[in-house]
Amino acid sequence: MSAKKVQRKKKFASQSFSEAWTSKIAAGISGEFERASLAADFICSRTKLRPHVALVLGSGLGAFADEFANATKIPYAEIPYFPRSTAIGHAGRLVIGKVGAVPLAAMQGRVHLYEGYSAKQVVFPMRVFARMGVKAVILTNAAGGIKREFTQGRLVVIGDHINLQGVNPLTGTNDERFGLRFPDMTTTYDKRFREIAVAEGNRLGVRLHEGVYAALAGPSYETPAEIRYLRTIGADLVGMSTIPEVIAARHSGMRVLGISCVTNAAAGILDQPLNHLEVLETAERVKGQFISLLRAVIPRIVEAMA
Ligand code: HPA
Repeated sequence: MSAKKVQRKKKFASQSFSEAWTSKIAAGISGEFERASLAADFICSRTKLRPHVALVLGSGLGAFADEFANATKIPYAEIPYFPRSTAIGHAGRLVIGKVGAVPLAAMQGRVHLYEGYSAKQVVFPMRVFARMGVKAVILTNAAGGIKREFTQGRLVVIGDHINLQGVNPLTGTNDERFGLRFPDMTTTYDKRFREIAVAEGNRLGVRLHEGVYAALAGPSYETPAEIRYLRTIGADLVGMSTIPEVIAARHSGMRVLGISCVTNAAAGILDQPLNHLEVLETAERVKGQFISLLRAVIPRIVEAMA
């Protein structure tokens, strides 16, 4: 075939592909389950890999996915119904590829309530992962350290959480195809996964502690009085994300590991104001450690799920 013909054939193939998806989307998909299924089908049409583990890489922590082999990168804007991240430090791209023998799906950046998204929109990617057959999610975030030993640069395994965002992504009619009306939250953060993370951290010389993560809606940082209140009620870390995704993931029966990178001491602990640049700079500084930890933890998580 001549080069011109090959080019024409390629153009036609990509045109008919996108037309097919446009008409599917335009057909008017009514429910969240159907929308998530369509988005999952779209993603699976772009790659042969079928990951059982997905990651959400928080503020400044996206670099891990740049190392994936055989990577397919899909901007969120191309995925049907996917929310688009607007926050600085969030690339807004889904990367599917392999680390060693393990196929993974990783979100380089998430969306937050403070961007104006509803809790349901925030957790849509979790719904899509569930429809793709993902069985475990690793959620990461940048957080302020409330507990005194959770100083800047520490990595902390989330042991439990306190939802102070004022919303729950499961509010409204429950779709039993996703999960139960009243999901149990007693063992939200998988015990075995937490043990693996701590053990692998120790092996790498990265001492990981466990802590309770509290999420507020943001986007303003907390006041010193709010931090004193959070400490009193048992929070060790504070942030503006993760909890909605964790709730949806557990609702759909996915196992969860949460890791926070302490990017700053929470408000009022040090005699200085907080800013987002510091958050990104700290995340950049611990990037190497964070990537090594994920590289070590993932194969062991896969082993634990077998
Ligand atoms: N507060 C809330 N969210 C955050 C913080 C904080 O101190 N640091 C990083 N994300």
